Amino acid sequence: VVSIPTPHNVLVQGASRGIGLALVRALLADTGTDRIIATCRRPGRAGELGDLAVADHRLTIVALDAADESSIADAAGQVAGLVDRLDVVINVAGLLHDAQQQPEKRLADVGQRTLVRSFAVNAIAPILVARYFEGLLMRSSQPIFATLSARLGSISDNRLGGWYAYRASKAAQNMLLRTLSIEWKRHPRPIVCLAIHPGTVDTGLSRPFRRRDDTGRVFPAERAARQILAIVAAATPADNGRFVDWRGATIGW
Ligand SMILES: NC(=O)c1ccc[n+]([C@@H]2O[C@H](COP(=O)([O-])OP(=O)(O)OC[C@H]3O[C@@H](n4cnc5c(N)ncnc54)[C@H](OP(=O)(O)O)[C@@H]3O)[C@@H](O)[C@H]2O)c1
Repeated sequence: VVSIPTPHNVLVQGASRGIGLALVRALLADTGTDRIIATCRRPGRAGELGDLAVADHRLTIVALDAADESSIADAAGQVAGLVDRLDVVINVAGLLHDAQQQPEKRLADVGQRTLVRSFAVNAIAPILVARYFEGLLMRSSQPIFATLSARLGSISDNRLGGWYAYRASKAAQNMLLRTLSIEWKRHPRPIVCLAIHPGTVDTGLSRPFRRRDDTGRVFPAERAARQILAIVAAATPADNGRFVDWRGATIGW
């Protein structure tokens, strides 16, 4: 059985807001947490995350742009100067919509720019984070790599259609994670990796698409963060390569 060693060092990639910020808060509330490295694109404008770092010396903010491989590599170099190992890496950053793109409703909305941007953040960044932080994870006695995926990336569960770039990039994220799990299983000290669907969570990502009657089915970010950390803490080698929801139930690829 793998459980997070105490004291543990955790990296949260994509912590400026939403679920990532809630994960940082939950980790700070956990006395077993030794160090938290939180990454965001612009630490100088980290807002709430910056305030948390001022208030608690266990938290350090490092710049990482998920859409830029050299930024991911630089961040890993910086983190190696801060901690001797990482016990848990949680890759959170994801892109559904922003000022430059909206989810596609129909084929006529599909375009190269949205597909490429979505793949960069949702599919390519997670595997590059795994690549550049692997060395620090391998120094842990019980390393865990979790990536936040989405049920919308399940091909077998796709009955509604739409949201081409988000669905396809999340499916690609899952395939890359699954492939990684097979390689990491063969390590002398295996790293357990898994893809987690957090449920529908009340963040900027989901807010424009919420229905009026869905209140009971949407988690506050704080609750989602606790559920994600419970799955990470309970992970065993048998969970390596799994795609699970917030309860730990398997989601079909
Ligand atoms: N909310 C939900 O209902 C839901 C459901 C299923 C899955 N998920 C998944 O859960 C994860 C977190 O979602 P969320 O709801 O917390 O989203 P969110 O509130 O929109 O936050 C997205 C995070 O990703 C970061 N990000 C986006 N592009 C980035 C880039 N190029 N480089 C670095 N960081 C970047 C954002 O940083 P900036 O502040 O710099 O933009 C922000 O911290 C995502 O992977 C999402 O797909 C969410």
